[in-house]
Amino acid sequence: MDSDVEMMDEPAALPSSDALVCGKRSNVAKTSSAAAASNLASRVPWVEKYRPRLMKDIVGNEDTVSRLTIFSKMGNVPNIIIAGPPGTGKTTSILCLAHALLGENFKEGVLELNASNDRGIDVVRTKIKTFAQKRLPLADGRHKIIVLDEADAMTEGAQQALRRTMELYSSTTRFALACNDSEKIIEPIQSRCAVLRYTKLSDAQLLKRILEICAIEKVNYEDDGLQAIIFTAQGDMRQAINNLQSTVDGFGFVNSENVFKICDEPHPQHVTRMLDACIKSDIDEAYKILHFLWGLGYAAEDIIGIIFRVCKFHPMADLVKLEYIKEIGLTHKKIAEGLGTLIQLSGLIARLCRIVQPKAPAGR
Ligand SMILES: Nc1ncnc2c1ncn2[C@@H]1O[C@H](COP(=O)(O)OP(=O)(O)OP(=O)(O)O)[C@@H](O)[C@H]1O
Ligand SMILES: [Mg+2]
Repeated sequence: MDSDVEMMDEPAALPSSDALVCGKRSNVAKTSSAAAASNLASRVPWVEKYRPRLMKDIVGNEDTVSRLTIFSKMGNVPNIIIAGPPGTGKTTSILCLAHALLGENFKEGVLELNASNDRGIDVVRTKIKTFAQKRLPLADGRHKIIVLDEADAMTEGAQQALRRTMELYSSTTRFALACNDSEKIIEPIQSRCAVLRYTKLSDAQLLKRILEICAIEKVNYEDDGLQAIIFTAQGDMRQAINNLQSTVDGFGFVNSENVFKICDEPHPQHVTRMLDACIKSDIDEAYKILHFLWGLGYAAEDIIGIIFRVCKFHPMADLVKLEYIKEIGLTHKKIAEGLGTLIQLSGLIARLCRIVQPKAPAGR
């Protein structure tokens, strides 16, 4: 296993008391408990199995992660909010930070609340306050940590109730909030925290991690399969790892066809051919492909989404690409407003076919 990849602790299988009686039984028990442990490990989803436990294993967002690493070494962290898109390592980073700061005191020193817990005003008044008041002998510069995951789902009332608590217990307790949308965190809370922003992960960062996992799990893959995983993940590491595992579980082999089947997305090859036809103003061919995709049962929302993503990477002239993206955006807006029909998509194709291509420079 790559030494850089730290796995979460697997629950240890306990030896049965019989196993301690005689050597032979003990061996049998050892084998069966090892088998049970490996069975258990094989059932852990890869996203959890490969959740980093150390700061250094977190991929991407280097500047922000290095700030957190400095916090973890110096102690005395401020209250923090980590905001950013899903699956980029926000919760993971907070847990790594808490582990680094509290070590063996992690269990008693951390209160973790996420959207699955009730986090209304009552919880702030009772659970959070009680935990903040709890006495825990910690080293100098170390504080108890209250993790409020998916904090953007907290009601405004609950957030308001948090303001005073944050100040009252600031000598013993720190708050770490994670959210997708920092706008949904009320201003007074934002002003009490250092706001750290995470961005989507780059294709290269996703690929590196996926390759590490493929090597450890001995996955059979083709390069176009990994490209497809990255294309469908759109900068979301959780999605990339989940799609990889689903494809391996479903087909045992990762190629682009299997990945798009598992992710239930139109294959970008079709969409590329459709755009090629639009560039040649060949509306018959473009429409044929659109009709084919529609016939496969994809929703207009899915089709327009993939047209946009394929267009972004299509090697057409920049000026044409700008026009295409403008048209695609306008159609997307109509579809989002409820006009998810084949006519809207056909209209888009027709408009794309009419966009004038730049003339090739003379002499070519
Ligand atoms: N930066 C990263 N480096 C390595 N693995 C990551 C990273 N981001 C996400 N992962 C993988 O994705 C899983 C989910 O990550 P995490 O829970 O941190 O996402 P999140 O940013 O909190 O997302 P959400 O906004 O949906 O809560 C992790 O268990 C890990 O396997
Ligand atoms: Mg999270």
